[in-house]
Amino acid sequence: MAVKEVYIAVIGAGGVGKAFLSQLESLSTRLSRTPSSPKLSLILLSSSKKVLYTHKYTALSLGNTASSLAQSAQEPLSLPQIIEYLAAAPSKAVLVDNTSSQDVANQYPAFLAKGISIVTPNKKAFSGTFKLWQEIFGAASTSGAKVYHESSVGAGLPVISTLKELVDTGDEVTRIEGVFSGTMSFLFNSFAPTEGSGGKWSAEVKKAKELGYTEPDPRDDLNGLDVARKLTILARLAGLEVASPTSFPVQSLIPKELESVSSGDEFIENLPKFDSQMEETKAAAEKEGKVVRFVGSIDVGKKEVKVGLEKFDRSHPIASLKGSDNIISFYTKRYGTNPLIIQGAGAGGEVTAMGVTGDLIKVLERL
Ligand SMILES: NC(=O)c1ccc[n+]([C@@H]2O[C@H](COP(=O)([O-])OP(=O)(O)OC[C@H]3O[C@@H](n4cnc5c(N)ncnc54)[C@H](OP(=O)(O)O)[C@@H]3O)[C@@H](O)[C@H]2O)c1
Repeated sequence: MAVKEVYIAVIGAGGVGKAFLSQLESLSTRLSRTPSSPKLSLILLSSSKKVLYTHKYTALSLGNTASSLAQSAQEPLSLPQIIEYLAAAPSKAVLVDNTSSQDVANQYPAFLAKGISIVTPNKKAFSGTFKLWQEIFGAASTSGAKVYHESSVGAGLPVISTLKELVDTGDEVTRIEGVFSGTMSFLFNSFAPTEGSGGKWSAEVKKAKELGYTEPDPRDDLNGLDVARKLTILARLAGLEVASPTSFPVQSLIPKELESVSSGDEFIENLPKFDSQMEETKAAAEKEGKVVRFVGSIDVGKKEVKVGLEKFDRSHPIASLKGSDNIISFYTKRYGTNPLIIQGAGAGGEVTAMGVTGDLIKVLERL
């Protein structure tokens, strides 16, 4: 590594952001023991309302960053001001976007054009319009800045790096299929377990919400959009020009009648009235000796992407998934009939931050 010091700016200090800051502290300590490694200097940390930064690019202490941020009285910076601040840094700068903000994502081309590399678990930039996707990678290739987003699909699981490597080494990816949502995984593994029975759909949704597996309003999981965003990213990496996450069929599990109820609690209260719909789906699968699962799939040859319910034999790897795990199968020319399968936790602060820290290490190796 030729660069002596790398400046790090972190936007977002929630579950993933806090775990990342702690991993950054360990990484920084580890690198400080190798004289040829760059010094990592955290120079900016912000949430939506607070910011902590130093005018002269002196490093913030990595020890108690989250509480220092909460106490900060510094005037918040706009995104253009953050870009200006990082672009003027006396050495290379990396933005770590740990938000789910579309506003931050929309500014990626501007960060990259100024030579600021980006690592992020935020799906918004890569699953928005195809124009934004092109602008991001166009700006990166012009300026030489790097952009990595491993944790935007399957959290820390090596899904994106694996797909890129399959494509870059000349394999032909024919089909990608999997369970891409920890929430959907948990719901279906308990609603329709391979060993039979399982709870009522509404009871499982209520339980998942109580255990913190769903968004505060479970409809944000059940509408399928989160899975559609991940499929958009993978399809684009596999070479398909997917216009947006709403440009292909996505099955919503929200009953029409409950689409416009005013709150998540009201939704949960009324969901039992619609249990028969899901019971019928489960029974139809059982009749064929199968179980129902919520999956996303990409048929690369046919250029087809879809998200929704499908039936699987009980012995299928997708059927026998446990807990809230994700599973992603890559069918390729090289791997033949037995797909390359990646499986494990697809959510959680620590594993998601691991993907982000891993991306940061890649950037450091390439600066
Ligand atoms: N958690 C997981 O298991 C997981 C898995 C895979 C991917 N991800 C992705 O990782 C990212 C972070 O997830 P999380 O669970 O850590 O979310 P979170 O707990 O809600 O934290 C989000 C953080 O971003 C800040 N933020 C939001 N909008 C902002 C803006 N416009 N400017 C500055 N700061 C802003 C929030 O600040 P305030 O608190 O002030 O609003 C908060 O600190 C998301 O993109 C998510 O999709 C998460």
